[in-house]
Amino acid sequence: MELSLAHNLDRLVDGLADQGYAIIDNFLSTNEVDAILQLDEFKGELLQFQKAGIGKNSGKQINESIRGDYIHWINPAMAAPVIQVYLTKLNGLNKHVNQSLFLSLKDYEIHMTVYPVGSYYHRHLDQFKPDDHRKLSVICYLNKDWQEAEGGQLKIYHKDDNFSILPIAGRLVCFRSDLLEHEVLPATRNRLSLTGWILDQHSDLRHL
Ligand code: OGA
Ligand code: MN
Repeated sequence: MELSLAHNLDRLVDGLADQGYAIIDNFLSTNEVDAILQLDEFKGELLQFQKAGIGKNSGKQINESIRGDYIHWINPAMAAPVIQVYLTKLNGLNKHVNQSLFLSLKDYEIHMTVYPVGSYYHRHLDQFKPDDHRKLSVICYLNKDWQEAEGGQLKIYHKDDNFSILPIAGRLVCFRSDLLEHEVLPATRNRLSLTGWILDQHSDLRHL
């Protein structure tokens, strides 16, 4: 493993253990972000995306006043090479976190995400119910030259001090899905990311 990546993963493990979250900048390089932005899905004006819902399976509801993003689930077996690069990095993260924190992370589920201008996701927790298999939330942002004034921060509610993270290109945010409430603030520009969860069981997406 590349030295700086190993170092970043050590920091990530410390952050998860101490605070329940961690940020790694440049998890994806500028070239990798560019290549992802060139994929048909992101070029296609949301044609390949669906409105995201709340809850799972038959209990799933669409509620614009809670979340306004559009998603496209990724089937790892069919993913474009540059997405495979991202998945390989996530595998490295999984392995490192498993070894260091004695978790039993097994797989992930990931979607491409677009928040159109003005849309948001209200304060929530990523585990829908206590027996949920989502253990860690991992989001990698794809927004080049994002400015503070454009909004779109990920706001994390952390004990008494809340803080906001800008969705800048290549930045990875990882946090405990069972622990940290968070919210996506509206932006003046489309806000793109790869959003996912690391699971302690195998994902259904392998059968898409
Ligand atoms: C989510 C979410 C945060 C972000 O999709 O559940 O909270 O910064 N995303 O996109
Ligand atoms: Mn969330």
